Amino acid sequence: MSTNITWHDASITTAERREQNKQHSLVLWFTGLSGAGKSTVANAFARKLFDLGNQVTVLDGDNVRHGLNKDLGFDEDSRKENIRRVGEVSKLFVEAGQIVVTAFISPYQADRDTVRALLAEDEFFEVFVDCSLEECERRDPKGLYEKARAGQIPNFTGISAPYEAPVKPEVTLNTEKYSVEECAEQLIAILQEKKYI
Ligand code: PPS
Ligand code: ADP
Repeated sequence: MSTNITWHDASITTAERREQNKQHSLVLWFTGLSGAGKSTVANAFARKLFDLGNQVTVLDGDNVRHGLNKDLGFDEDSRKENIRRVGEVSKLFVEAGQIVVTAFISPYQADRDTVRALLAEDEFFEVFVDCSLEECERRDPKGLYEKARAGQIPNFTGISAPYEAPVKPEVTLNTEKYSVEECAEQLIAILQEKKYI
């Protein structure tokens, strides 16, 4: 617990940064099973945003767990701490005027709601990357389901650990029905419609 700390206001406001960047800054929080397509769609979407001249940052579970969160495992408390830290980092990027795309399984609704509560209503979009367990297991891009079924990975989401699908996501991307390109375009269209980009 930190004590004797004082908040300092920034000399440059988020509103000024948004004006300079010609975009609204927010988090598009992807959630879904391993293999659902979070990383693939997040990167396709980020590429499109970048090519349109927007400032975008992708935070990906596998990558963040190589550095900032390398001390965390996959039990419930570790996942909670993982999401809490990423939520705080996302908030810093939003204050810096960036569009943030996060790709974490983030299996617990309560943890996703904790991140939502950190941000304003127009700064957090929960994006459900919807794909059945059967299809994720068929894709198995990293061979993890095979290992999990063989009992080699404990607490594996969908097999031996829970996944709570979003109750009221702002957006649902069905990656069994729609291509990577269509999913990325759907998100671009939403941001354009809201005049965020
Ligand atoms: S979480 O639940 O949000 O904290 O997970 P996240 O930070 O997104 O990390 C998920 C990636 O870690 C790999 N991995 C596992 N996933 C689920 N369960 C277990 N036990 C596990 N062990 C390792 C896996 O590559 C996940 O990446 P994705 O991209 O989702 O497949
Ligand atoms: P996650 O980050 O959710 O674990 P990945 O993006 O790493 O998922 O893996 C998804 C896999 O599914 C990739 O191999 C990707 O090529 C494939 N895939 C097939 N169709 C789609 C789609 N419509 N959207 C996203 N990924 C798809």
